[in-house]
Amino acid sequence: MTLSNVAIVGATGAVGRTMLSILEERDFPVKELRLFASERSAGTEVATKWGPVFVESLAGADPAGLDIALFSAGGDRSREFAPRFAEAGCTVVDNSSAFRMRDDVPLVVAGVNNDALAGHAGIISNPNCTTMALLMAVGPLHQVAGLRSMVATSYQSVSGSGMAGMDELVRQNAALAANRQGLVDGSWQEPGDYLYVRPIGWNVLPFAGNAATEGYTDEEWKLVNETRKILGAPGIAVEPTCVRVPVMVGHGIAATMMFDRPIDVAEATAAIAASPGVQVWEDKIPTPLDSAGIDDVLVGRIRPTVGERGGISLWAVGDNLRKGAALNTVEIAELLLA
Ligand code: A2P
Repeated sequence: MTLSNVAIVGATGAVGRTMLSILEERDFPVKELRLFASERSAGTEVATKWGPVFVESLAGADPAGLDIALFSAGGDRSREFAPRFAEAGCTVVDNSSAFRMRDDVPLVVAGVNNDALAGHAGIISNPNCTTMALLMAVGPLHQVAGLRSMVATSYQSVSGSGMAGMDELVRQNAALAANRQGLVDGSWQEPGDYLYVRPIGWNVLPFAGNAATEGYTDEEWKLVNETRKILGAPGIAVEPTCVRVPVMVGHGIAATMMFDRPIDVAEATAAIAASPGVQVWEDKIPTPLDSAGIDDVLVGRIRPTVGERGGISLWAVGDNLRKGAALNTVEIAELLLA
């Protein structure tokens, strides 16, 4: 494989660090590696498989000579810098939502819709982490039976909000547990300023993302729109609810689906199990803790619908930093090189 000049933008963040370790694990053919972050991190030395690399400030970035850049530094940075990198001849795989719904930007779940990469114009988008985990299970079912409708509820971990989310959970869990009885009788004290709209420590927050239209959050709309774009089926009816849970890593999704024809558990299980990057667990319940640090999405509780017959309900859970973000960007980069 030809060696490439590779950049990670947002290299010091939760996803950026995972991108680096996945490039190392998979022996990505790197000629030169460049790491970009904010001014705050510029000059920091990072030990890598390809030798020590000094973090560069994105603001002063010169992308000349780069072949591939993996972006995960937030939507604003992507909007400003991804087009500049692409104009300099570098192919950008972007983890933000900035370009996902643009017609000239492929939205790719590696292993589900690789064909969409053909004819890209320099920027490729990585789907939202919740949609990604879910579609690893739903993609194979859509292939065999045609997805018609889906009710999906997510249980999203705090690392989906980056380092800040993880710090917040640890801090609030400790602050609230200092008054254990307060968690029982309601005399708990507000644990300081929130990253989220309500406390996440010892709690569940039925509102992940930011308020958008019709009472839904932007995370919920991503589940609707990205599912349709990835499966190439704009008519699929998706009813989403996105919930933030006090879990460090691993987004879970409970979904109930109806198809163009009835499908039973045996057929659904076989289709999912045959798909790369997914494990069906039948003897043990897969949880976020099981998913943390591994590449595969775990699927369990595959069962028949009992309201309207003929559909499937299931649970899928995946490491949102790996398949949900960093792993898929690296897989896309590998597909680009292949
Ligand atoms: P830095 O660590 O220097 O702030 P996370 O969401 O996990 O916190 O990661 C965000 C990533 O995006 C980090 O690498 C962070 O760098 C980077 N980042 C945030 N703001 C900027 C910015 N204004 N310019 C460049 N990189 C940024």
